[in-house]
Amino acid sequence: MAGPAGPVERLAMVAAAVDPRQQSATNIATVQIDLRAPWHIGPVEVPTRLVLAPMAGVSVQAFRRQGRRYGAGLVCSEMVSCAGIEHRNERTLGYLRVAADEHPLAIQLFGSDPGAMADAARMVEAVGADIVDLNFGCPVKKVTRTGAGATLLENRELAPRIVESVAEAVDVPVTVKLRRGLENSSRACLDLGPRLVEAGAASLTLHPRSAVQMYPGEADHSLTAELVSLVDVPIVASGDVTSHAKARAVLEATGAAAVMVGRGAQGNPWALREIVDGGRGEPSREEVAAELVVFIREAVRELGERRASSFLKKFYGWYLGRGRFPRPFKQELVQLDSTEEVERRLFAAAPRASVLVEQLEAEVPSGGEMTLELPVSIYGGG
Ligand SMILES: Cc1cc2nc3c(=O)[nH]c(=O)nc-3n(C[C@H](O)[C@H](O)[C@H](O)COP(=O)(O)O)c2cc1C
Repeated sequence: MAGPAGPVERLAMVAAAVDPRQQSATNIATVQIDLRAPWHIGPVEVPTRLVLAPMAGVSVQAFRRQGRRYGAGLVCSEMVSCAGIEHRNERTLGYLRVAADEHPLAIQLFGSDPGAMADAARMVEAVGADIVDLNFGCPVKKVTRTGAGATLLENRELAPRIVESVAEAVDVPVTVKLRRGLENSSRACLDLGPRLVEAGAASLTLHPRSAVQMYPGEADHSLTAELVSLVDVPIVASGDVTSHAKARAVLEATGAAAVMVGRGAQGNPWALREIVDGGRGEPSREEVAAELVVFIREAVRELGERRASSFLKKFYGWYLGRGRFPRPFKQELVQLDSTEEVERRLFAAAPRASVLVEQLEAEVPSGGEMTLELPVSIYGGG
């Protein structure tokens, strides 16, 4: 998946990608990269070079469907506990809900037992996921102390065994999402990546921060470029991509097949459109209010009113911030008890948004979900 630049040029350009002040020094603007060009993970065609990141507590179906509408070629569920699937935990099984208009969709699993991961992967395949993604990067203690997530980055024996076991269990492609390693200077991903590909991984995503680093500092995409040079499967570059210019710079500098966008898409689907196509990024107030209302309604259908109203609070800040609405307005919405009341306030603040909501709901198909036979309570009764 090497891009047109050689390794030395790529490393120079990655410095520019990481530091926007340097962008004028390199000739990034002349590079021909089409973020609308399709690519493949095994047999799965991904229509654009933008992947919407898996984010725990964020990547619900409403978020993923919205991401697809705004140009993400592939969307991912948040990490789903393999043990939760094994024990048929109701809330865990609720994450395995796939809508017809999400495809292609990856469902991400975390766990450390190869057999249990294979069983969970079979279930993920059965509900209609196009890809099984494995989380080898979660830095959160609750996950790492069980031997899962980022701990696997430095377990050269167990990590490939998990991939092999899962790849044997399912027909859909198996992919892995990695961090660079556990400690700040770690290069474990470069040692482990080729082993995972040999074990059957059809693509790797690298978020080149360490587990101890969590999110501060910068993602070191020179490691992404190195990983690209070591394997012959598509690599997805994750970390700090928030604009079209940055996406192009990272793709060119690393030779990655696609970029993954996480925090930049929170409350900001317009960023996805700008990343794929360039051009206008900022929406009008009416557009913001309308997208938020549609998102609220979908989240309520998915999670039920009680869970949705606490889940949604962080989204109010994400949508209404960035100078789009006055700060006290967001604080007012967070205090409200019901999502209906939030909707009313949004329409009062941006009256023409109601017409846009009608248009959006007419355009967005709502049916066609594929689910397992699961108790109704999983769906919050919705
Ligand atoms: C709130 C939050 C939750 C996340 N949850 C997951 C997760 O469930 N699985 C995963 O592989 N990565 C997870 N990540 C990491 C992101 O997928 C992504 O790699 C990281 O945020 C860097 O990309 P960004 O700079 O575009 O946000 C999470 C990140 C955030 C901010």
